[in-house]
Amino acid sequence: MSESLAARIRTRLQALDDDGLLRTLRAPSGIDLSSNDYLGLANHPHVKDRMMAAVAREGAGSTGSRLLRGERDGFAAIEQRFAGFKGTGRSLYFSSGYLANLGVLTTFPEPDDVILSDERNHASLIDGIRLSPARREIFAHNDASAVRRALDETRGAGERFLVVESLFSMDGDEAPLKVYAALCRAAGAHLIVDEAHAVGVYGAKGSGLIEQHGIDEDVFLSVNTAGKALGVAGAFVAGPEWAIDYLIQRARPFVFSTAPPPSVAAALDASLDLIEREPQRRTALLDRARALRLRLTAAGVPLPGGSSQILPVLLGDNDRAMAVADALQADGFDVRAIRPPTVPPGTARLRISVNVHLTDELMERFVTALVAALVATGFAATMATKTV
Ligand SMILES: Cc1ncc(COP(=O)(O)O)c(C=O)c1O
Repeated sequence: MSESLAARIRTRLQALDDDGLLRTLRAPSGIDLSSNDYLGLANHPHVKDRMMAAVAREGAGSTGSRLLRGERDGFAAIEQRFAGFKGTGRSLYFSSGYLANLGVLTTFPEPDDVILSDERNHASLIDGIRLSPARREIFAHNDASAVRRALDETRGAGERFLVVESLFSMDGDEAPLKVYAALCRAAGAHLIVDEAHAVGVYGAKGSGLIEQHGIDEDVFLSVNTAGKALGVAGAFVAGPEWAIDYLIQRARPFVFSTAPPPSVAAALDASLDLIEREPQRRTALLDRARALRLRLTAAGVPLPGGSSQILPVLLGDNDRAMAVADALQADGFDVRAIRPPTVPPGTARLRISVNVHLTDELMERFVTALVAALVATGFAATMATKTV
């Protein structure tokens, strides 16, 4: 046993603790204001029943990779259904969104290519880009002029890829997708959109912000996580037939990993039933989010603009963010502090995520508890005076 390694790691852990950055694992307790189960599907009886019936029929595990004995008719069927839902030629299911992003970004860009990436992109996109052999250009968050410039400057390079989230996970704001679509079309660049927090929530069919903005034709690939609004797990990469064919050959997280349990395909089929049949869920979600924004703003809690179900309350300091989250948890609200490196240094925050189960009465109680926690931690001094 290497004592020197253990000593080094203890120093590293202590440094994290000193900086207010030590994480602990905490099971959910209290009213959910932090999960990504926006539509309340993770516990929906239709989804659970279909999943349990599939376990009984097909077993617990898939026993091999999709290219070997792990393939099942259920995967092919759900991929076909999801492609129809998304309006693309085909889709491919990965066991997580993280792996889907790694798969996409390490498969298509080659050494002479350039990847343009928003500075606030999710870690899975960043890691995929780091693993890819292409050159990377990071641009300021949601800065379409910077993208335009970068596309001009990289003319003559190999293929260009623009990689963004449609709804940013920690800021809750939208990318200017329509502008990006036009820029990519004009420049012959390829738009890759991570719809992790938008799929199931936006668009008339509920397939996401690509649908809502009508830019399907201008998107090369979308990555659609299935463990958030869809309530299950995994992610679908949706795009043209030839691209999906190539992912099956080359995406290492797909090829070299055991297929997900077959039952997730059945559960996802049930989720899509609900998303298609019950559009009122997404309307109710966005209504709830709007109502909470109004209440928080009226109470003087500073929120960035936007209208999504993700509401960040920027607190800056790591320890303060933890103290406010702890106080809310003690009051029975499951709100989590988000700290670097998940968000840039100095921008620790509460990430409040709304779901369909949030009632008016709970909102009222939550706003009161949040304001009290902000006052107790001294943050309220910087809020509008009427609150304090
Ligand atoms: C924008 C974004 N992309 C990808 C992922 C990864 O998805 P998964 O949790 O399925 O690995 C997440 C989840 O945190 C995310 O927020």
